[in-house]
Amino acid sequence: MSTGPEPRNTELRNPEPHNNEALFERAKLVLPGGVNSPVRSFGSVGGTPYFVERAEGPYVFDIEGKRYIDYVMSYGPNILGHAHPAVIGAVQTAAAAGTTYGAPTENEVVMAEEMARRIDGLEMVRLTSSGTEAAMSAIRLARGATGRDKIIKFAGCYHGHADSLLAAGGSGIANQGLSGCDGVPDGAVADTIVAPWNVVPDIDESIAVVCVEPVPANMGLVAPAPGFLAELRAACDAAGAMLLFDEVITGFRLAYGGAVEWSGVQPDVWCFGKVIGGGLPVGAYGASREVMGHIAPLGGVYQGGTLSGNPLATAAGLAALGELTPDAYRRLDRTATKLALGMQAAFDAAGVAAVVPRVGTLVGLFFGTEAPTNFDEAQALADNGVYPRFFHGMLERGVALAPGPYEILFPSLVHSDDIIDETVAVVAEVAATL
Ligand SMILES: Cc1ncc(COP(=O)(O)O)c(C=O)c1O
Repeated sequence: MSTGPEPRNTELRNPEPHNNEALFERAKLVLPGGVNSPVRSFGSVGGTPYFVERAEGPYVFDIEGKRYIDYVMSYGPNILGHAHPAVIGAVQTAAAAGTTYGAPTENEVVMAEEMARRIDGLEMVRLTSSGTEAAMSAIRLARGATGRDKIIKFAGCYHGHADSLLAAGGSGIANQGLSGCDGVPDGAVADTIVAPWNVVPDIDESIAVVCVEPVPANMGLVAPAPGFLAELRAACDAAGAMLLFDEVITGFRLAYGGAVEWSGVQPDVWCFGKVIGGGLPVGAYGASREVMGHIAPLGGVYQGGTLSGNPLATAAGLAALGELTPDAYRRLDRTATKLALGMQAAFDAAGVAAVVPRVGTLVGLFFGTEAPTNFDEAQALADNGVYPRFFHGMLERGVALAPGPYEILFPSLVHSDDIIDETVAVVAEVAATL
């Protein structure tokens, strides 16, 4: 007698009340805070997260059928918009050929070649499964290559959640109001020096690497002061320390050749994520051939991963990079400019003290009269209580921003002029209520 097919995942879903509120209650019983990454919990804006059912182009749709113009865009990967046909097609083709092998594939080579082709000075990369892994491994590489232990990071820069990097990070850590993190022993951060952003720190011969988001986008958007990155480069050179560009957000978003093209400054080590995975889990770190010669199996710095260079992720990432022509960056720059200027005008007209900083294709938002230049200033504005009201006003009217004041807006290539106009009109409406 046949017992019928095994239940499939979809049949395990509870058919009971299918709304955000009810699902969040269920979620909180089985997921800490109801989420799998803290910023998604709405902890700093209050209320109930919307649970996404699907997404398309510039929109996400929640399980209640509500549609939002999306500026979260998975915090950066979806630069082409949601469910871009080229990416979905590439993933479907790749999936039909198997999801992971534990042996090298041609697409890993092509991805590394393409990254190296676009970025001056980047000669070799190692693919990982997340930006966190990439940053953690890049630091291990820098320590291995220099034989030094100490690292410098800047307050408000976020480099993922590896122990040694969880000191004074922005993004989710800032949202939680944590300066550090429970469970990270003092020893793990003993060699991490935290410096204020936009001031060249003392760099001596004990420093292995200075880590920087070349355009910080995890304390809101806080641009480097003119000349700062070049001065940092010179100070690293004088001390024989390496300079690390964490391009997990800026890589292949800020410009065709990332922050190097934008700033004219070349680091020794890079890390990447987000855009190069086309929305699948990915990260990468890289450097010159000489420096990458320290990575196993060539050298003594060990790092590996079961799913590193995963065939779905490389297929999605290559499809995304294929769409990211120099013209695509010009278009995204125009979109970001229209959004930033439109929002600024709407706030000004309503008499709301707000600044909408823009660096190339990156757009930030602070409620205050002047754009901050460091984490202290950014925190003061983030904590003034305006953002949650603005956020909910936007969400109620169908525009989804990140549920935290330290994140930036991520317009994509499918945020058309009409979508931006619609967004700016909603900003004007909400600004009038603040
Ligand atoms: C600059 C930067 N570095 C590292 C990371 C960590 O990447 P992931 O979340 O993929 O681990 C992030 C994530 O937002 C980031 O913005």
